[in-house]
Amino acid sequence: MSTLKVPFHRPTIGRDEIDEVVRTLESGWLTTGPRTAQFEKEFAEYVEAPHAQAVNSCTAGLHLVLAALNIGPGDEVITTPLTFCATVNVIIHVGATPVLADIGPDGNIDPASIEARITPRTKAIMPVHMAGLACDMNKIWAIAKKHNLFVIEDAAHAAGSHYRGFPIGAGNPETGDRSNAVVFSFYATKNLTTGEGGMITTPNQEYAERIRMLSLHGISKDAWKRYTAEGSWRYDILEMGYKYNLTDMQAAIGIAQLAKCDRMCARRNALAARYNEALRELEAFKLPVVPEGLSHAWHLYVIEVNSACLRIDRDRVIEELKLRGIGTSVHFIPLHLHTLYQGLGYRRGQFPDAEERFQGAISLPLFAAMSDEESGRVLEALHDIASEFKK
Ligand SMILES: Cc1ncc(COP(=O)(O)O)c(C=O)c1O
Repeated sequence: MSTLKVPFHRPTIGRDEIDEVVRTLESGWLTTGPRTAQFEKEFAEYVEAPHAQAVNSCTAGLHLVLAALNIGPGDEVITTPLTFCATVNVIIHVGATPVLADIGPDGNIDPASIEARITPRTKAIMPVHMAGLACDMNKIWAIAKKHNLFVIEDAAHAAGSHYRGFPIGAGNPETGDRSNAVVFSFYATKNLTTGEGGMITTPNQEYAERIRMLSLHGISKDAWKRYTAEGSWRYDILEMGYKYNLTDMQAAIGIAQLAKCDRMCARRNALAARYNEALRELEAFKLPVVPEGLSHAWHLYVIEVNSACLRIDRDRVIEELKLRGIGTSVHFIPLHLHTLYQGLGYRRGQFPDAEERFQGAISLPLFAAMSDEESGRVLEALHDIASEFKK
């Protein structure tokens, strides 16, 4: 276990989650069943989406969506290099080609860079709401409409996040634009967690049915009900599906987490506001940019080391923070710098904006259960480092 004074993350798990899980265990129904159905219904309402399908991870969800939209060999999917490997691996898993487009000043995929990479083979755009900051979806939807492309949002960081006042998952009700699917992560460190888990939302009934069927082996409708009084033992396998279902034990945690999601987001917001306020005066660090009209769910609070003002680099700042008992992380090593994707032909220097951002990036501890004392310690350590290593 960590001996850090302030860990990078600590989940908000309390009596509510424990009681929900115990009730589920006592119910005798452990895997996908009534609790998952309840979690799907409540999550769909929360993000104002017509259909929701629970899955065992965001990675599984993104894979399922690509499969359900028949994206495969010969197709190209445009996404950002500044993301977790899962975003791109699922594209490769379905046999399609990932096409990376550089980021803008806010760290999210740059719409102009997307447009420059469209070819006759492009089938979909997969924007990532990096750190919980919504991408400029109006521009992305306009590009998709113009070129007849699918939009699949990687909303791994964006449960509880909003775009122009509407929850991520709701699209833009003012214009009627929305993505074909939005996929959330409930991994242990996420704003809302089930330990491992994810949710796909979609406005399209036909996609929703296909995603549901493919999520459990391709079994015909209401597969889990075959063990209930209303179900029957007989089923049909319609397509080659996957085993991507969420269990009722995980859904129980999700139901309790969802009930306090707004409260947890508000706490993250308050902590981020404190960081903004207290770090503004330090030239040693650049602070996160939130463009006008966009909102941030503060899944991550990413600062950048300003090498013009500090004698030490990012890696050394991380070490210095560690020496002062502060846990951190880095989001992300741009994908084109990894061996696997270099095997696909990507090279250092191709996405200078993503590389520059990575060079200085440090994700500070930020979680709903963080105390004022803990955030105070992080700020004290940063002030200390800024003055000790000032250029
Ligand atoms: C941007 C992004 N996409 C996808 C994923 C995959 O999520 P999961 O772990 O739920 O599969 C992650 C995980 O951290 C992520 O950060």
